[in-house]
Amino acid sequence: MEFQNIRFQKKENIGILTVDRPKALNALNTQTIQEMCSVFKEVKMDDTLRLLIITGAGEKAFIAGADIGEIQELTLKNGLEFLQAGHQMNRDIEGLGKPTIAAINGLALGGGCELALACSLRIISEKAKMGLPELGLGVIPGYGGTQRLARLIGKGRALWYLLTGDMIDAPTALELGLANMVTAPEELMEKTLKLGKKIASKGPFAVKMALMAVNYGLETNMESGLALEAALTNLALQSKDKEEGIAAFFEKRKPGLALEAALTNLALQSKDKEEGIAAFFEKRKPEYKGE
Ligand code: CAA
Repeated sequence: MEFQNIRFQKKENIGILTVDRPKALNALNTQTIQEMCSVFKEVKMDDTLRLLIITGAGEKAFIAGADIGEIQELTLKNGLEFLQAGHQMNRDIEGLGKPTIAAINGLALGGGCELALACSLRIISEKAKMGLPELGLGVIPGYGGTQRLARLIGKGRALWYLLTGDMIDAPTALELGLANMVTAPEELMEKTLKLGKKIASKGPFAVKMALMAVNYGLETNMESGLALEAALTNLALQSKDKEEGIAAFFEKRKPGLALEAALTNLALQSKDKEEGIAAFFEKRKPEYKGE
């Protein structure tokens, strides 16, 4: 897919998605959401990628919300579809199976704030601000903000920012637990990448299980959450990553985690795989050349 409104690059095992729609302060129109979702699909399938950073181009905005021009045109008929597309985008982020970090370089408003809330972590520049100004437009946050903000910072605080529409500056975002770290603007990407690398060095299967335990466990009661945690931990206990992680601990060396995934990914690119699958469909014996 050719991208018009985003950029996507890979830095070793980290993906970086930059929303780049300067004329609208990186606002999320339908095209941008579709482009982002295609990147999420790629990141999910690519075993060599361990983490995704989402940021905005320029200094002014991370994402200034859903596209207000598109909202103006919505009817009762297509409004639901528009909102479901935004929900799906944020669900895709939460369901990536890999951590996501919002590197908030500027204004994260409305749908942009809601997207950041769906990320695993939020690193914010000293100059950036977050907020849900939708009520001022006569609408309400429609990409999950009413739910995720209250879950993250508590009902009373969420209602305060929702009802006043006040922008939240970086120190306040940190204090509220809305942001995990504040950085100088010029250090935002460097520090986000440093954190990303640290997380990306952990066992990817265990990371996936931990994300599921927190994301799904929080939506249920303690008893069911603990049962989910036990089941997911038990899965991690059977993984090759666990064998390698623990062996490396006792041998006092760095673990080579995700060997299995990396090798499977290599095998998926091989000529032998092409031949094996072609032979399967042609109902003949494969002729492997070991490449
Ligand atoms: N959608 C579409 N275009 C947007 C936009 C948005 N969310 N935010 C900014 N723009 C456009 C402006 O229309 C303007 O375009 P033109 O140059 O063609 O006029 C351009 O970006 C620059 O914006 P401003 O001139 O307004 O810049 P400013 O510095 O004066 O103000 C701002 C910056 C305070 C962010 C202001 O642009 C603003 O209030 N934007 C809207 C923020 C907002 O309300 N976001 C929530 C959207 S609704 C939503 O997200 C619903 C949902 O939950 C799904």
